[in-house]
Amino acid sequence: MNEPKPLLGTLCGKVIEPPPLWLMRQAGRYLPEYRALRQKAGSFLELCLTPEFATEATLQPVRRFGFDGAILFSDILVIAMALGRTVEFRDGDGPNLLPLSDKTGLTAQADAETLAPVYEALRRVKAALPARTTLLGFAGGPWTVAAYIIDGGGRTQFAKARQWAAEKPDVLDGVVARLAAATADHLAAQLDAGAEAVQLFDSWAGLLAPDQFRRFVIAPTRRIVAALHARHPRAPIIGFPRNAGALYGDYFVETGVDALCLDPSVPLDQARALQAHGPVQGNLDPALLLAGGAALDRAVGDILAALHRRPFVFNLGHGILPETPLEHVERLVQLVRGGL
Ligand code: CP3
Repeated sequence: MNEPKPLLGTLCGKVIEPPPLWLMRQAGRYLPEYRALRQKAGSFLELCLTPEFATEATLQPVRRFGFDGAILFSDILVIAMALGRTVEFRDGDGPNLLPLSDKTGLTAQADAETLAPVYEALRRVKAALPARTTLLGFAGGPWTVAAYIIDGGGRTQFAKARQWAAEKPDVLDGVVARLAAATADHLAAQLDAGAEAVQLFDSWAGLLAPDQFRRFVIAPTRRIVAALHARHPRAPIIGFPRNAGALYGDYFVETGVDALCLDPSVPLDQARALQAHGPVQGNLDPALLLAGGAALDRAVGDILAALHRRPFVFNLGHGILPETPLEHVERLVQLVRGGL
């Protein structure tokens, strides 16, 4: 089909053949050119917050594989930095933050200077991108960012944030509300800077009990979506409440997101049922892309057969693993594009 921007078209509800393809964490350590750039930048945060480097990292996977989406090279924790938290990334250890004790540890307004390089990177990418590629902005879901801020990183399985959800939900509400407001502004500024759609990564949504999920995931996401739709009515929002299981449908309908990203645990018949509410994206297991071979071929064929008749974006169900061989990504592109 002759669609000028296949990914944007699909997110707006069109069925496009072959379906558009991009990969979560498509810029990263599995690419030799990323590893070289990362070394040149010195640190991951330097890479994120220097527009020249962030632009190059965003473009690398698009250049190599011709993906339909270019996702801004940044991180969900830049918003925590802009709200006054100290964030460090140590090699091989994930993010480290100074743990939060209460709401007063977050400033009322995000610091514009911290975020300015992010928007500058988007403007540069937009100017350099092929006409058919859709530029994606993103942010973390407020619950997921709150979990990193409260626990000070991910090594604790977010025991403290979950304890807050159970013991002092009103305090957590305050933190999540402040993050939700800053996140809506951050995403709107990304759309102002040239992003054409945005994805909200609520990677740890699946840790919450159903009533907590409604309060700390669905409710603030609905407010973010309403604020963005008011300011940018035509820009699609992809929601990714990872591991939401049986609650994916409620999230899709109640938050008003335009498209839903699914993790690999979602059975394909459930994924197909969710297409009744709008476009879905996903959900190949990153371990299958790592493994390659007949298992990869079969899984890609199954996903395409189940989902391609309705608006569908091919993606992984979580970020690509750094050990993934480039040939397996090439094979995936052939399978999705060429119908092999
Ligand atoms: O997808 C892309 O290519 C765009 C860039 C992007 C990054 N992080 C770059 C990154 C995106 C969209 C993210 C989102 C993100 N960051 C999430 C949500 C998605 C998910 O994976 O659940 C989360 C939870 C984070 C926080 C974060 N950042 C963690 C837990 C880590 C450490 C894990 C790891 O892979 O090392 C990071 C670091 C990070 N963010 C890297 C990249 C490329 C690796 C840094 C490096 O060593 O070069």
